[in-house]
Amino acid sequence: MRRAEPPLVSAEEMEAQRRAMEEVCALNERPGSYCIVTYGCQMNAHDSQVLAGMLSAMGMVTAPSREEADLILVNTCCIRDNAERKALGNMTWLKQLKAKHPGLLLCVCGCMTQQPKMARVILRQYPFFDVAFGTHNLHRFPSLLLRALETRRQVLEVREETGHIAEGLPIRRESPFKAYLTIMYGCDNFCSYCIVPYVRGRERSRSAEEILREAEGLLKDGVREIMLLGQNVNSYGQDLSGDASFPRLLTRLDSLGVPRIRFMTSHPKDLSDELILAMAGAKAVARHLHLPVQSGSDAVLAAMNRAYTRAEYLERVRGLKNAMPDIALTTDLIVGFPGETEQDFMDTLSLAEAVRYDSAYTFIFSPREGTRAARLPNFVDKDTAADRITRLIALQERNTAEIYAELVGTRQTVLVEEKAKRGGGQVAGKCGRNITCNFAGNAALIGRFVDVTVTAAGHNTLKAERVLE
Ligand code: SAH
Ligand code: SF4
Ligand code: F3S
Repeated sequence: MRRAEPPLVSAEEMEAQRRAMEEVCALNERPGSYCIVTYGCQMNAHDSQVLAGMLSAMGMVTAPSREEADLILVNTCCIRDNAERKALGNMTWLKQLKAKHPGLLLCVCGCMTQQPKMARVILRQYPFFDVAFGTHNLHRFPSLLLRALETRRQVLEVREETGHIAEGLPIRRESPFKAYLTIMYGCDNFCSYCIVPYVRGRERSRSAEEILREAEGLLKDGVREIMLLGQNVNSYGQDLSGDASFPRLLTRLDSLGVPRIRFMTSHPKDLSDELILAMAGAKAVARHLHLPVQSGSDAVLAAMNRAYTRAEYLERVRGLKNAMPDIALTTDLIVGFPGETEQDFMDTLSLAEAVRYDSAYTFIFSPREGTRAARLPNFVDKDTAADRITRLIALQERNTAEIYAELVGTRQTVLVEEKAKRGGGQVAGKCGRNITCNFAGNAALIGRFVDVTVTAAGHNTLKAERVLE
């Protein structure tokens, strides 16, 4: 349903959090330093920057290491079983740290804690944890922390979805020249394997004015690249009144003069011709699109509830390449979905071959409690799934190597981010295609766009040299 404005968390509630931040700041015995451990996707990375912003506003500084922190916050992910196991393993390890440093305050939040009853189970099984909260009440962290500090008892608060958006929270960004900008929250797609709609709630778009204001602020602060975030950015604005849409938002952001814009994630079913035109006509939108396909088999796509066929996906790819011949595509692929036959899998291989992705994230299906796919019959056995992912990765590595080799001799524009890991007077940054390029240069280039010529292809990176004009 379209509505006029996004429902916001009330001004009183936001004011209560501001006061809680001041109160924590004024406490004599409060943690001096913090460390946030983040799992999962860009949404979580962005949330962690907001949590860091709140902790800074509460007078804390980042700890030089995890061992030296007075407060550790674990921001969890539950997209696959191994994501949960990693977080839980780390949380077990924190017990020893707390034994050495009894004043240490341990907090857990994120998608894992938002699952039904999970936060309670965690606090019971990890009694050395002090605070647990979910994704829908992130903005209430200051109040919860204040309560934990005042009572010295475990504090738990996980809210059912309210469908509200909290605007105006502090944020502590990691890079001075690259920034995430959330344009929408939640997901309505209910792909049958996916937990995200259950832990992030329904789609809700921020108002275009709010987004543009934030982008203008970023530009003023010297940000050179903005990554627009949402689980399905293509459906931005469908819940707002008027003519709000992602292509329109993209065009407006482009006209602000942000030097480079990226966005993720796009759902193929909502990738309109209008969006392709908006991308092709924009000055700043990078020539790269992450377009998760998941499978190349129509039967599996239908069972996944992806709402497009293989032919429709390939038609979208053709549309993109016609409008932007130099566009780079990347994707996500799942193997071993329940019922996936050898032929279905071969269809995935042939699709990956046909599209020629620059790179792909490949996953083995992991059943998630509460999702429809977890109840499907015909699970694929472990060995078969492992064999399939190995074959898929081999094909993708071949394609990546070929595409990278073809890029040798081309000119690319790199936003320099850091001194290269290997050092040696080299700097590194991403080109428009989103590939890391290394080239000779000094630290003064960091934060600047530099034109380079690709000289050699590495495994996951490109070697380049600066174009001197
Ligand atoms: N909203 C984005 C990202 C979702 S999570 C999108 O729709 O593309 C990132 C990726 O994790 C998905 O694209 C999918 O490939 C993978 N994934 C999600 N649930 C999974 C599961 N249960 N098992 C294996 N992979 C999964
Ligand atoms: Fe999950 Fe599908 Fe939504 Fe992506 S679009 S977050 S895979 S339900
Ligand atoms: Fe994980 Fe939550 Fe993102 S489940 S992938 S952190 S939305």
